[in-house]
Amino acid sequence: MGEPLIQVDGLSKTYRQGFWMRRVEAVRGISFQVTQGEAFGFLGPNGAGKTTTIKILMGLMRPTGGRVSLFGLPVPSRKSREKVGFMPENPYIYPYLTPREFVEACARLSGLRGAALHDRVTRVLEQTGIAYAATRQVRRLSKGMVQRTGLAAALVADPELLVLDEPMSGLDPGGRKEVRDMILEERRRGRTIFFSTHILSDVPQLCDHVAILQRGQTVLAGKLSELLTGQVLHTDVVLAGDTASFREAWEQRGLKARAEGARLALQVQGDVPVAEVLRDALARGLDVIEVAPRYQTLEELFVSKARGGDADPSP
Ligand SMILES: Nc1ncnc2c1ncn2[C@@H]1O[C@H](COP(=O)(O)OP(=O)(O)O)[C@@H](O)[C@H]1O
Ligand SMILES: [Mg+2]
Repeated sequence: MGEPLIQVDGLSKTYRQGFWMRRVEAVRGISFQVTQGEAFGFLGPNGAGKTTTIKILMGLMRPTGGRVSLFGLPVPSRKSREKVGFMPENPYIYPYLTPREFVEACARLSGLRGAALHDRVTRVLEQTGIAYAATRQVRRLSKGMVQRTGLAAALVADPELLVLDEPMSGLDPGGRKEVRDMILEERRRGRTIFFSTHILSDVPQLCDHVAILQRGQTVLAGKLSELLTGQVLHTDVVLAGDTASFREAWEQRGLKARAEGARLALQVQGDVPVAEVLRDALARGLDVIEVAPRYQTLEELFVSKARGGDADPSP
């Protein structure tokens, strides 16, 4: 509990671009907070404003309006960044360094020295699955390997808060799973994780809180379990027995029914109470095989809230 590790209030950012200083409103008054121990997914299509928000959080850019703090400390400030591990989107690593040299340099910047530094660097290189290529120059590494090196660098100081911009991008399914497992592991250790992604299928296993961004505004925010369970789409009921007259009666009331071999699958939705359907089925001597509420998936929720695919606000 306690005070939020990340607090964002009414944040906005307008870029000025090109010779005519055309305005691009990348972030338009967003607010959210991330508390201790949460895994927070910052979601949205390309161009929604995720990276802009993260850069402001990391003190790399000034907002046009609003306020941001980390650990209750104003951003930008040196102190606010002390307990934060950051992995930028497409991390740039000097191509003639090796992953070990790069991660060692990051460890030194955060105050590690000597044997402690060596042990810690070895450990995060192993943890991120890049140890086998730790002495190869970065210019010879694949995008996924560079991504892992960036993650190792973010983890090396054992930060309390991890901020990861698209940590799963550029990885194959196996690599994505490894990064997911790593995030879960850090979370089990009590770390707070804030990460952005446009890959929604990775999200439900990973985070407990989300904010969905669209064209620089939050279209949805909150606890994932509450966002999803609030939305029962319909209830699937599967019955067995002599279902003919039962089927006719309920189809007349507007329910969709489908024979599945000797069974009847019924989709109960709208204002028809599931209990009433079940009572009727039992009264007619039918067997109830399955009753399964179908919840909206995050993808469906996202599509219904954030229509229009790529949401680049620039014309
Ligand atoms: N340096 C910049 N100058 C002008 N426009 C920018 C700049 N960086 C990003 N944008 C624009 O701001 C919007 C949000 O971009 P970004 O924050 O990178 O989104 P996301 O990370 O969600 O894909 C996009 O329309 C993008 O083109
Ligand atoms: Mg981005």
